[in-house]
Amino acid sequence: MEFLQVCPIHKSKQFILECCDLINSEWPRSKAARLQSLYMSSDKFPTSLVLILDEQQVVGHVKLSEIKLGGDELMIETMIIHREHRGKGWGKLLMEEAEEYAQRRGKNKIYLSTRGQEGFYSKLGYEICQPVMYFGFCDTTPKNDEQAEKPQQDVITNVCPNAPPPPPLPKKKYKLPKKYRKTAKTYMSKTLK
Ligand SMILES: CC(C)(COP(=O)(O)OP(=O)(O)OC[C@H]1O[C@@H](n2cnc3c(N)ncnc32)[C@H](O)[C@@H]1OP(=O)(O)O)[C@@H](O)C(=O)NCCC(=O)NCCS
Repeated sequence: MEFLQVCPIHKSKQFILECCDLINSEWPRSKAARLQSLYMSSDKFPTSLVLILDEQQVVGHVKLSEIKLGGDELMIETMIIHREHRGKGWGKLLMEEAEEYAQRRGKNKIYLSTRGQEGFYSKLGYEICQPVMYFGFCDTTPKNDEQAEKPQQDVITNVCPNAPPPPPLPKKKYKLPKKYRKTAKTYMSKTLK
């Protein structure tokens, strides 16, 4: 009998490297950047939740981030189930646990974007919505007064005032080969009850 647990990665740091490898198996990216993102997980958002099998293997991950600092809407990202364990209902389980986790912390709406997994999310009650402005982080750095009041300088004109104008843009638009073109993202949302 399989034993599954969902826990925040910052409470189970021994799984961080394994979790990083799981995410990179689907979306390869620098290990350092991945680890940095996972180490940012905390009781305040962003929070990375992991699905652990038999207290020893990371078989799923999902990241929850506030869209606006302190707001009641979250963005769900990097939702993944280990390849060997897909189609067993574990994705649904992890998403439902993530929703409960969010609700317990006063959040009432979840957004996500996907390319190709619309069917999975719609089974969980997500509906297609307008794109949301989300930049992947909340800037919590307080701006000091001097910085805030100083008008932005036009760096380009100041650096080289007598520079010739730039050449005109090429007329024919460059089109990426088909294999490199990305399909548009679908944004979906769900109001938590
Ligand atoms: C998408 C993903 C998380 C789904 O996890 P999973 O564990 O395989 O899904 P589940 O077994 O929990 O599926 C739950 C339900 O959704 C359905 N489902 C799963 N993927 C689906 C899809 N792509 N389209 C339509 N339905 C889907 C299942 O049939 C199941 O339906 P049921 O409740 O009627 O039986 C998993 O396939 C995955 O990790 N994919 C790669 C990473 C990825 O694309 N993540 C999403 C980023 S936006």
